[in-house]
Order: sequence, then C-alpha cells, then structure tokens
Amino acid sequence: MGMDIAIDLGTSRTRIFVNGKGKLVDEPSVITVNLDDDSIMAVGEEAYHMLGRTSDRFNALYPINGGVISDLGLVEIMISTFLKRVVSSRIGMPRAVACVPGEITDVEKRAVVNAISCAGIRRVCLIEEPVAAAIGAGLDITGPHGNMVVDIGAGTTDMAVISLSGIAVSRSIKQAGNVMDDEIIKYVKRKYNMLIGKRTAEEAKMNIGCVLPGMASGSYRIKGRNMITGMPMWVDLKSEEMVEPLKDVAIAIVKQIQDVLEETPPELIGDIYNDGIVLTGGASQIVGMDTLIKIATDLRVTIADDPADCVVKGCGAAIKYIDALKHPDGSVNPITDRF
Ligand SMILES: Nc1ncnc2c1ncn2[C@@H]1O[C@H](COP(=O)(O)OP(=O)(O)OP(=O)(O)O)[C@@H](O)[C@H]1O
Ligand SMILES: [Mg+2]
Repeated sequence: MGMDIAIDLGTSRTRIFVNGKGKLVDEPSVITVNLDDDSIMAVGEEAYHMLGRTSDRFNALYPINGGVISDLGLVEIMISTFLKRVVSSRIGMPRAVACVPGEITDVEKRAVVNAISCAGIRRVCLIEEPVAAAIGAGLDITGPHGNMVVDIGAGTTDMAVISLSGIAVSRSIKQAGNVMDDEIIKYVKRKYNMLIGKRTAEEAKMNIGCVLPGMASGSYRIKGRNMITGMPMWVDLKSEEMVEPLKDVAIAIVKQIQDVLEETPPELIGDIYNDGIVLTGGASQIVGMDTLIKIATDLRVTIADDPADCVVKGCGAAIKYIDALKHPDGSVNPITDRF
C-alpha cells in the first residue's frame, strides 16, 4: 500500500501532507529559471531567497496565482522536486487530494490535476479550498449545520458557507496578502519617495501590518532606494500608518463577507449567528482583521489554530473520502474525482 498525500498549491507557499506522517513540505511556491538555457536553478526556499536579487540571466517567479497555474511545466517541476525531498521513490505514491479555489474554470482545474499527475501520482481528487479550510480548522461540515469560513491567503480570499459537506454560498476575490504588499509598496513610494521590493513590503506587513486604527503598536525598519537621489535609504515604518495602505483590501474582504451573509439561507444564518465566522489563511493573522469583521457583521470571529496550515490539513483529513468515492454510500462527499 503506497502513501496517500494531500497538496495545497498556494500562491505564496506549497504545502504537502503525507498520510500518517503529517505536513512534510511547507516552502515558497517559487522557482528560479536560468534564462540562458531554461534550466532550473532552484526551487522553494532557496529560490525565494533569490527573489528580487536575480540578474537578467536568472528569473525567480511564482508559477501559481490564486490556485491558477500560469506555467504548467514549472509547476510540474516544482511538485516533483518537493515530492522527491519527502518520498524516496515514486513507486507507492498512488493517490492525492488537492484543493482548488471554488471559482476557477474546469480547464484550470484540469491543469492542477495534470501538474500533480506528472509528478507520479496515479489518482488525483479535488476538494474546494474553503471546504478543506473548514475541515482543517476542525469544523464538522458533514451535518445540516451551517459553518462560515474565510480563508485569507496571498492570491485570493475564499469564503464560503458550508453545510452537508458542500458549499451553500461562496465567493473568491483577489483582494488578499499580495495586494496588501503592493499597496504597501505604493504607500512607501508616495509618502517617502522610496522604492522597496515585494519581500520588504511583505516583511513589514507580517511584522507591523494592521487594519484598524488604535490596535497598532511598534515600528519596523525598511530599507530601499531614494527615488530622487537614487541612494540607499531607510525608514522606520510605524504600525499605525499601515492602516492607510491596508484598509481598502480589508474593507473589500468585509464587504464580500457581508454579501455572502446576505445570500445565505435563513436556517444557515441562524447557525452562523450562534457559532460565528472562522478565519484561516496566513493573512488572517494581520492585526485588527478579526476585530474589523466582528464590528462589521456583529458576529463572533475566531482565527483558527495555525491558520495557514488549515487547507493542507483539511486536504489531508479528506484523504479518507477517496475510498468513499469508489464505493459511494449515498452520503455527500466533499471531494470530486479526477477531472
Ligand atoms: N503573521 C502574518 N501577518 C500578516 N500576514 C501574514 C502573516 N503570516 C503570513 N501572512 C501572509 O499570508 C499570505 C500567505 O498565506 P497562505 O499561506 O494562507 O497563502 P497561500 O495559500 O499561499 O495563497 P492562496 O491561498 O491565496 O493561493 C502571504 O501574503 C503572507 O504575507
Ligand atoms: Mg491558500
């Protein structure tokens, strides 16, 4: 009997869970290509450290955005490389559960299946990302009870009301961690005439990011280039000034949550009123995000334990449903078979 695995192909990080062993891969979804001969220089953590430092001979790039693969060949190489690091042989890697955002096309879903199949997996089953996030956050989604989960990742914020292992209402928007980084870059340019890279912006967001005035504290030193003199410079960014670049993304997320709540059938709304909303995804940890959603919806909001790992954990927990696909017992199955 071979190993079954679960894969979360995230915009910023790829996570792989091996059944019975837990999460064995958690690396940036980055790959560096040598532009002279198209050979692969580095994958994952090593490639991430080359981001923004690459010359015209090398290019470090993210081949996945919001669950959508922009370069199939590169994603295949990335998955194979990660798998080789944790599984000694391809023999005995028969099945995988992978998650996809709810709102991508069948062609895009097939690309995810193909990329994983090419890495030596015999059978690939898909699960919708918010369903995986809910399972990974420890919610019981199999009953007729309504649960609401909001996964704020790097490329997308996926939110859904889930009941009977299926999605009752859902939305996926591109307002998430990456847009926050872009907004920080624009803000620093505008306010300090200073150019910073994406990694610096992300580090500032993770260290002092805040979306509600009054909740922020501390500062973080960022280094970049003065746009007027061309010389290196630094600035101590204060947490409270981060509200300005981050507020629009936070408000867009809140607005979508309100829309989903408005569309939710009344019986399920009652459940959500009792249980509240669960946040998952790395960017749900930004200071003030949970409070802002709480204020806007008047609901209880909790951040799941290890929020960025919920999706891969949920995919891992869904491995047991692969067998149920073969022998349907009439119950609703949260995963679908190969596309
Ligand atoms: N402590 C933190 N505070 C704020 N943001 C954070 C924190 N930790 C991680 N992030 C942000 O969370 C995002 C990554 O989250 P996650 O790993 O859930 O995304 P992903 O699964 O790769 O993306 P997606 O699900 O959109 O494809 C990044 O934008 C990262 O900067
Ligand atoms: Mg994700």
